[in-house]
Amino acid sequence: MTKAAALPASIDETQRMLAEVGYVADRALSTVVFLALKLGRPLLLEGEAGVGKTEIAKALSAALERRLIRLQCYEGLDAASAVYEWNFPAQMVAIRTAEAVGTEDREALTEELFSSRFLIERPLLQAMRPQPGGAPVLLIDELDRTDEPFEAFLLEALSDFQVTIPELGTIKAETPPIVILTSNRTREIHDALKRRCLYHWVDYPDFERELQILRARAPEAQEELSRQVVAFIQTLRTEDLFKKPGVAETIDWAKALVALDVVALSPQVISDTLGTILKYQDDIARIQGSEAQRLLDEAKRKLEPA
Ligand SMILES: Nc1ncnc2c1ncn2[C@@H]1O[C@H](COP(=O)(O)OP(=O)(O)OP(=O)(O)O)[C@@H](O)[C@H]1O
Ligand SMILES: [Mg+2]
Repeated sequence: MTKAAALPASIDETQRMLAEVGYVADRALSTVVFLALKLGRPLLLEGEAGVGKTEIAKALSAALERRLIRLQCYEGLDAASAVYEWNFPAQMVAIRTAEAVGTEDREALTEELFSSRFLIERPLLQAMRPQPGGAPVLLIDELDRTDEPFEAFLLEALSDFQVTIPELGTIKAETPPIVILTSNRTREIHDALKRRCLYHWVDYPDFERELQILRARAPEAQEELSRQVVAFIQTLRTEDLFKKPGVAETIDWAKALVALDVVALSPQVISDTLGTILKYQDDIARIQGSEAQRLLDEAKRKLEPA
């Protein structure tokens, strides 16, 4: 295994490094990422759906050539699923086998049963283990979906980067992982946890940045179509929608239009493909027809040279 890429030495370098793996970060985001790496602090990213929060962790892992370890949060997530579990079925088999061959040494058997051979390592424990390319990127995704007890537990794990397994002892990370936490803010993350982290609100990108993202992620789309797509999406976001389209939808839409051999937007094309950018029937019904025409006119005005 080759040696991992060094951490970026400046904000500009951070921005460049992310761009090289196709992630378009603005100055504010590049700054907070640079600082998180430099200071070794977890980074908490909040923002609307589909604005590139999760992707940051993937981009960092690719750019720094570090392993990506992902802990997907959900309601009811507990320490066993997040840290480690004993492989109970395998332990049972081992016990049965020992019984069948008639093992005398019960103590040795017990010791064996609670050795690393029967340990199932979950993301948090994996992240404490040394990795060939350097400390891994630990993505704790959609933290707002877990409950408060788990958050408290996580706070502890993040403060000393160690895990205690009663039967095995304490495992401590030699080098702490690079930790990225994301939240869609369906509930507030606790202050105590926030205090440990650097924080950044990932906003919808502006026109130029979203166009850059399209160039990176949907290069098959012609420049003129991409400009229209971005202008339309940006206009659409100013509407009062139940769920505004994220960057993911912009990319999907551009790809869909290319697949349909569309070279320029028209109200008809927009109405026909709204399902790639709006995911609620009420929103779709509102935008179809004359509303699509109005928004397209507005978007085109934005594209005219001032
Ligand atoms: N700044 C960016 N540069 C490059 N690609 C981006 C950027 N922002 C978003 N994307 C693209 O948008 C898609 C969605 O991003 P991502 O999954 O990270 O969103 P998210 O904020 O985690 O959304 P959710 O809250 O729904 O999980 C990704 O596949 C990524 O390709
Ligand atoms: Mg995400």
